[in-house]
Amino acid sequence: SRRITVRDISAAKERGEKWPMLTAYDAMTASVFDQAGIPVMLVGDSMGNCHLGYESTVPVTMDEMTLLSAAVVRGTRRALIVGDLPFGSYQEGPVQALRNATRLIKDAGVGAVKLEGGERSAHQIELLVQAGIPVMAHVGLTPQSVNAFGGYPVQGRGEEAAQQLLRDAKAVQDAGAFAVVLELVPAELAAEVTRSLHIPTVGIGAGPDCDAQVLVWTDMAGMTEGRVPRFVKQYAQLRQSLGDAARAFAEDVVGGAYPAAEHSFR
Ligand code: KIV
Ligand code: NA
Repeated sequence: SRRITVRDISAAKERGEKWPMLTAYDAMTASVFDQAGIPVMLVGDSMGNCHLGYESTVPVTMDEMTLLSAAVVRGTRRALIVGDLPFGSYQEGPVQALRNATRLIKDAGVGAVKLEGGERSAHQIELLVQAGIPVMAHVGLTPQSVNAFGGYPVQGRGEEAAQQLLRDAKAVQDAGAFAVVLELVPAELAAEVTRSLHIPTVGIGAGPDCDAQVLVWTDMAGMTEGRVPRFVKQYAQLRQSLGDAARAFAEDVVGGAYPAAEHSFR
């Protein structure tokens, strides 16, 4: 059984099939999702918030991306693994983008990379695609620009912003991207983008009409602390379960109930 490829992803749009994508940052969690049949996993720079304890994705480095991407590749057999290019790893231009994407392909073994930006990143996408590296684009809310956005506002509201989003989506398709993430975009606009592109759209906070949907796994599984964004649906309460397990273990140790005879050697 071979890995899913970007060609399978293109074929899914032709057949009108929707597909799910989750983030993953380690081998063990990735193996769970792989065995659950998740066809595409993103080693997102959201690892900055989820895994590394940063306040945004901005500080994430290529070393961190490479290390965790390699772990996710090792933990999976079937899924297409997409590695995010972190902030500062492609903004200098196409040659820098190619150097860093090549690292994720060769050193981590990912099958594709993702980078943020529409028209502004088209030259980078073109060179990567020419070099044989499949690229997933990402438009709408692009979290690496948090300092410019001043937060994480919904994008594409108003006629001018909607036209820009459509131009951005077309630009990444023309540059050769195999798919494009639409983040925090009004549902109607995301539907229009999806209809007007031949490559699949991957929505996050972009309504029901995208070709695929992605969520950060810790949000999806109820592991994230505190409030989650409105677009998140929680399919488990892992934070509660794991906390309960830790408290029960602590109580057993303090009270002497663990280890019992069956956990001991004689
Ligand atoms: O880093 C990430 O998790 C992402 C997804 C939210 C699309 O870019
Ligand atoms: Na990201």
